[in-house]
Amino acid sequence: MEVIIFETPEKVFDETAARIINLIQKKRNAVLGLATGRTMEGVYQRLVAAYQAGKVDFSGVTTFNLDEYLGLDPADPRSFRAYMERHLFSRVNLNPERTFIPRSRPEDVAAECRRYEALIKEKGGIDLQLLGIGRDGHIGFNEPSSSLAARTRIKTLTDETLLDNFGTLEAPRFAITLGIGTILEAREIILLAFGEKKAEAIAWMVEGPVSASCPASALQLHPVVRVIIDEAAASRLQRKDYYLWVWRHKKQAEELSFTLASSQPGDKPEDP
Ligand code: GLP
Repeated sequence: MEVIIFETPEKVFDETAARIINLIQKKRNAVLGLATGRTMEGVYQRLVAAYQAGKVDFSGVTTFNLDEYLGLDPADPRSFRAYMERHLFSRVNLNPERTFIPRSRPEDVAAECRRYEALIKEKGGIDLQLLGIGRDGHIGFNEPSSSLAARTRIKTLTDETLLDNFGTLEAPRFAITLGIGTILEAREIILLAFGEKKAEAIAWMVEGPVSASCPASALQLHPVVRVIIDEAAASRLQRKDYYLWVWRHKKQAEELSFTLASSQPGDKPEDP
């Protein structure tokens, strides 16, 4: 894992948006895995601004969202479909036929989950998966105790998640979510977080054991994960100084790898 710590949430959003834009500039038909929540709003704002400034073209991009509440009308402002329309889809030139989100009212939930998995495969798999993190260490809606091998399926949300997301328990209790096994198949993953409230989950995910009690810890098994966080979210990391040092000296490490690579064909710069 590459842990990148910035002083402010604004820089977390800048860095994440820059990486997404860079990918789309290199691969115009990139497949993005998208997430929702307050954490993502700053990233989407920056993508919209870059689009308005003519710096990025989304017309060839395909998107898959991580999850959706079951039972809500897609037009319900609480649905993730409505969230995505508000923050991104209606504001950039994404092709609506290529913005996928699990259906909130499928006739057959298991069939919908299978359809979604198949669709991801059909589109060539996810190039870059964006993730936030819940205070209990969930990613997508993979709540603690989720199988680390799970595929897309229905999950029951915890009280903590309902209170965090809606401020009340009178809210949708079930959701369809990509499984951890599905998420781990993305070619590259960026998990971002800011604020003291996420500090414990971040420490557990990065420095704790791999455990279904903290589903995000499964990301330790993926070779290309970047954790982009602010100082507050990093405040419980024991090796914070090490991560800061590595980031500040990254260029040096890359140059060294390049020198080595020229004498030993096949080597490549240090991966996360
Ligand atoms: C929800 C989403 C997650 C998201 C989490 C954190 O539970 N399913 O994908 O990471 O909320 O949300 P926030 O960014 O609002 O803290």
